[in-house]
Amino acid sequence: MFSFFKKKKPQEPEEGVKNRVYDYEDVTPLMYYFEQETGITFGQQKNILKSKLTLFCKTNDIYSFTTLLNSTKSDAKMKQELMNLLTTNETYFYREFSQIRSVVEHVQKRASSAPIKILCAPCATGEEPYSIAIALFEAGVGVEFSITGIDINSEALQKAKEASYSKRHMGSMDERLVQRYFKLEDTQYKLSEKVKQRVSFEQKNIFESEFTALGKFDYVFSRNMLIYFDKATKLKAKSILESMQNDPSVGVFFGHADLF
Ligand SMILES: C[S@@+](CC[C@H](N)C(=O)[O-])C[C@H]1O[C@@H](n2cnc3c(N)ncnc32)[C@H](O)[C@@H]1O
Repeated sequence: MFSFFKKKKPQEPEEGVKNRVYDYEDVTPLMYYFEQETGITFGQQKNILKSKLTLFCKTNDIYSFTTLLNSTKSDAKMKQELMNLLTTNETYFYREFSQIRSVVEHVQKRASSAPIKILCAPCATGEEPYSIAIALFEAGVGVEFSITGIDINSEALQKAKEASYSKRHMGSMDERLVQRYFKLEDTQYKLSEKVKQRVSFEQKNIFESEFTALGKFDYVFSRNMLIYFDKATKLKAKSILESMQNDPSVGVFFGHADLF
């Protein structure tokens, strides 16, 4: 009997696909490339890196780590996707607040009324530079100030610009301040324009010359990034960040875990 339901022929693999070798074994070349580009070392976490990259490859139809490495080197978009995937952007408002307090006190004691410039490198999703702005407003400092936040992760910077946060990101900030500087919409805390206007964001890698081209700053924060670097890279980063201070006697504010 004639049937309308013809059996489907198994699909022929596309030209070139037939001989593909799926290979997600040796992650070392990718690990070294990433270390060289960002300073971030994986050492003990090599297996975590391997599983993250295997999943990334399978989701994006990339059939081997070698192919991924080659396209990362030749395709800026792919490189950025990898940076976004492999950097850790955990942060929250009023984190390690004692350092922010000491900057506010320092600003209050300044003899000059010249505008001040503050750098947060890195800023991740923006909570740190915004916390500094809120603390300066709260102290009623008379001088003009501007804060620049930089990070290598473009998705984190996009969130920083949106300045819309969940409760988890409010950290230890006093409820009174939350009410004063945020508007709660559904579950999101939207930061006031007054604070947003004082902070600008730029995508930079601290090891590239575009970063130092930002110039010098009165206060430099660099917290919870160096923990991901090895000793030699920490020292290199430290000297780059120190070179960006207007007054070296102030010192760069590193995170408590960024031990040298
Ligand atoms: C854990 S966050 C720290 C954020 C904030 N400073 C804090 O202490 O809460 C670390 C950030 O460092 C950024 N980062 C890592 N290597 C970098 C590099 N070479 N240049 C710029 N940013 C980098 C990551 O993208 C990440 O957002």
